[in-house]
Amino acid sequence: MESQNRGGFATNFGFLMAAIGSAVGLGNLWGFPYKMGANGGFAFLLVYLILAIFVGLAVMLGEMALGRKTGQGCVGAYAAMGKKFKWVGVCGVVAGFFILCFYMVLGGMVLRYVCGYLLAMFGSNNFGDPATFFGRFITNGGSMLIWFFVFTLLNVLVIAGGVAEGIEKFNKIAMPALFFLLLIVLIYVACQPGAGEGYKFMFSWNVKPLQEDFLKVVKTAAGQMFFSLSLGMSVMITYGSYLSKKEDLEKDALIVVVSDTLIAIMAGMVVLPACAAFGLEYGAGPGLLFSTMQVVFASMGGFIGNFIGFLFYLLVFLAAMSSSISVLEGVTAYFVDKNLKEGKGGETGGRKKACIIAAVVIFVVGSLVALDGLGGGIEGGALINSPAQMLGIEAQGWSDCWLDFFDMLSEGILMPLGSMMLAIFIGYVWKTDTIMDECEASGHKAWGHGFFKFCYKITTPIGMLIVLYGQITSFFG
Ligand code: PFF
Repeated sequence: MESQNRGGFATNFGFLMAAIGSAVGLGNLWGFPYKMGANGGFAFLLVYLILAIFVGLAVMLGEMALGRKTGQGCVGAYAAMGKKFKWVGVCGVVAGFFILCFYMVLGGMVLRYVCGYLLAMFGSNNFGDPATFFGRFITNGGSMLIWFFVFTLLNVLVIAGGVAEGIEKFNKIAMPALFFLLLIVLIYVACQPGAGEGYKFMFSWNVKPLQEDFLKVVKTAAGQMFFSLSLGMSVMITYGSYLSKKEDLEKDALIVVVSDTLIAIMAGMVVLPACAAFGLEYGAGPGLLFSTMQVVFASMGGFIGNFIGFLFYLLVFLAAMSSSISVLEGVTAYFVDKNLKEGKGGETGGRKKACIIAAVVIFVVGSLVALDGLGGGIEGGALINSPAQMLGIEAQGWSDCWLDFFDMLSEGILMPLGSMMLAIFIGYVWKTDTIMDECEASGHKAWGHGFFKFCYKITTPIGMLIVLYGQITSFFG
């Protein structure tokens, strides 16, 4: 009865689209290309793939299995394994909350670009000079808040619909559409003269960057892999709890990891060759998605530039939405589970109310991110200062803007800490069989016993330790 009220995915395809939707996000379309650009192209790709196979896949399976085994969201799932584990679940939900405080702001910014290019196709010059638009936009507090609000509202509308009727329906349409749009843009970019340099940078054998600064490449790839797979942020446990016992968990985890990696590589194959073709720098850093790409579309010129720009930002928008709803669901599920246990909130455990309250709090706290001009502060024309400016200290990775502050709390500490604990619990406390038995609850014979045992005992705890070390040193180093 209780699990009926919690809701669930109607089909395995729906579950897969939702889990892939969560994994495929700004991390793939933005983080992956720019980090690859700044970390030696091929060398980065190589390390990324090794880590995804030996670390990411096992954590993914562990989270999904834990969720399905206990039938609970993140906090409930850890608590069901023993009261002393509960705090790790709390880390996941709190991390999800902090992530949304900046991710929803970014989602709103993407939405602005989608609408802007749509209007531009019909002749409206609403961006002004493309080279300076980004700077003007981020210091316009009113505009940033409005787009942030609209994006948050869209998330609430999907979540309030429930798991099968809201999340599953959205992803079943959005994910295939995203793939198709990405393919069109990729083919168009491939036809541009000069694009070949970008592919060479990505795919021709070159491990020199590893010899020059091994630790930097490994740290960056490890953090990227972990974020990109949506691990440690309550999502895969929550989605796993909505999955039917008859589905093959190992296969599902593998499909999600492979799809996420494929889309990241495809995004690299759009962004890096596009930069090569138009003579722009790969390693432009975080500005790549918003300012560099805008210059690319302006260079394509006329209607076609606006059209490709529209398609590109539309697919980025779909990716951002499917990711943010997964985390908002992770937070909402916490309250729903709690309500159902206490007999409150009626049939659905107060789903609508829970997600609206969560969204309002996220909007209020996230306003800090929308208003500081991404760190430019009052001097740079924004409405409020960055944390460093407010405290009167020298800016560091965690304090140079509010976005980085919330990122530090979530991606820097809570997520890798939680996932490292999960890896240790599975390898040494609950033991690998807890996960493998859940895989076999479907009636399929588990094929990955030996491989996953090796991962859970050795590569996953070590890999997660590298992620944690890398994140802490990059924020505080
Ligand atoms: N895997 C997501 C990405 O690559 O963008 C990570 C994520 C971030 C998911 C923020 C959800 C979210 F709200």
